[in-house]
Amino acid sequence: MVKSLITLENEAKKALNGAKNLKELDGFFRVYLGKKGEITLLLKSLTKLTAQERKKQGKGINVLKGKIQQLFKDKTQELKQEEISSNAKGDWLDISIPGIKIKQGNLHPLTQVQRRAQDIFRSMGFAVVKGPEVESEWYNFDALNMPPDHPAREMWDTFWLKQKKRSINTKENFLLRTHTSPLQVRYMQQHNPPLRIIAPGRVFRYEATDANHQINFYQLEGLMIGKNVSVANFRAMIQEFYEKFFSKKIAIRLRPSYFPFTEPSFEVDMTCLVCNGKKCKSCGHSGFMEMMGAGMVHPNVFRAAGYNPKNWQGFAFGMGIDRLAMMKYKVEDIRLFYGKDMRFLTQF
Ligand code: DAH
Repeated sequence: MVKSLITLENEAKKALNGAKNLKELDGFFRVYLGKKGEITLLLKSLTKLTAQERKKQGKGINVLKGKIQQLFKDKTQELKQEEISSNAKGDWLDISIPGIKIKQGNLHPLTQVQRRAQDIFRSMGFAVVKGPEVESEWYNFDALNMPPDHPAREMWDTFWLKQKKRSINTKENFLLRTHTSPLQVRYMQQHNPPLRIIAPGRVFRYEATDANHQINFYQLEGLMIGKNVSVANFRAMIQEFYEKFFSKKIAIRLRPSYFPFTEPSFEVDMTCLVCNGKKCKSCGHSGFMEMMGAGMVHPNVFRAAGYNPKNWQGFAFGMGIDRLAMMKYKVEDIRLFYGKDMRFLTQF
């Protein structure tokens, strides 16, 4: 015999302890216990011995084989356990953790208000029209009964556009529209009465910003022309609009006012929503809130549009969309709508 059983045992134990995973353990098995393994070959070699010798040596080898087999079994068990727990660590899934919330965007509050207003007017037969934000002086002022040097132009602080060398064949001046009223004339020039339109859009004023003023904001213009369209029609229509928009009963009040493009002209007030008409600080203890300008279309505006003022009459109005939003959501500062504070914007 080349190696003593003790040496073999020590070697085998050392190899077994050194095995780091099941694959290495497989290698160990082949070297010691497999078909051609050292212990197996040792047992096979016994056949060459005499019966007596075989008995004597065989016992020792079998004891060694038994020992190594047991150690191999234990080690296999140990490594299997280790592998299971390390796999489990990698794939750990805690099904009780709350999911990751998907962030959903939302429409800007002013867009929501504009769309709601459009829906209500559409339900009353009004078409929605749009026009340019860069407007000509003629549409913004002259056509609306405000010739050059008319003092009423002072009612609007205007951003005039610089005129480069006139490449286009016009003497026109251009500006950022100060109101949506130019659309009245633009639309009438291209359509025959009777008609009902609203024109929502952005307008610009060259003025200082504060809680109630912005250099740009949104208006919604309205125009209804027919043979017999009256102030009473306007009153009924606008009351219906506010009641639908604010989902509550609302009182309307018309106050005489002045606009160059309407005659007569009025300011429209509605029940103060802060105190529900009971008179509070917000409404200056009147119980009413000022909501918009309106009036019966001036004959000169009809003339500018090419209509005969003897044949047609109608009302026009212009409301602030921002104002509407401030009332609906009880927002006290218009600047919040134009800031980028997501804490504010995502509330709507
Ligand atoms: N354009 C006016 C403004 O910006 C609002 C207005 C008043 C519009 C009376 C109208 C109207 O159509 O009839 O202040």
